[in-house]
Amino acid sequence: LERTFSIVKPDATRRNLTGKIVAKFEDAGLRVVAQKRIHLTKAQAGEFYKVHAERPFYDELCEFMASAPIVAQVLEGEGAIAKNREVMGATNPADAAPGTIRADFAESVGENSVHGSDAPETAAIEIAYFFSGLELVG
Ligand code: GTP
Ligand code: MG
Repeated sequence: LERTFSIVKPDATRRNLTGKIVAKFEDAGLRVVAQKRIHLTKAQAGEFYKVHAERPFYDELCEFMASAPIVAQVLEGEGAIAKNREVMGATNPADAAPGTIRADFAESVGENSVHGSDAPETAAIEIAYFFSGLELVG
C-alpha cells in the first residue's frame, strides 16, 4: 500500500474542521497511520516549503503555515498520493471540483485547508520530516 503525507492547514484547524477533513479521507478509503498536532515556527514552515522559495507568495505562505496549529498525517491506501490529491481538489478553491475538501472548506488559493504530497519522492521526504518510523502504525 502507498503512503502519502497530509497537512490540515491553519485556516482549517482555526475553524475546527479537522474531523470533517479527516472524514473525507477515510470515506475515500485512506487510513490515518500517523497523526500529530503541532505549531510550526516560520523557519520550520520555510524548510518544509523550500521548493517554493523563489515564488512570490513564499513569505506569505510561511507566515500562514506558522499562524496556528496544523495537524500532520500519514495516509495509507491504494494509490494514496493520487487519491489524496483527488479528495483535496485543485489548489485554488475556485477551480476545485464539487465535494472536494478545497471546494467545501478552502478560503483562498493560499489558505486552502490542506496539503498533500505530489509524488512518491516528496511523500517520502515529507513523511520523514515530520514522523519517525516508530510513529507510523499501519
Ligand atoms: P500543497 O499540497 O499545499 O503543496 O498544494 P498544491 O500542491 O496544490 O499547490 P502548490 O504546491 O503549487 O503550492 C503550495 C501552496 O502554496 C498552496 O497549497 C497554497 O497554500 C500556496 N499557494 C500556491 N499558489 C499561491 C498563490 O498564488 N498565492 C498564495 N498566497 N499562496 C499560494
Ligand atoms: Mg504542492
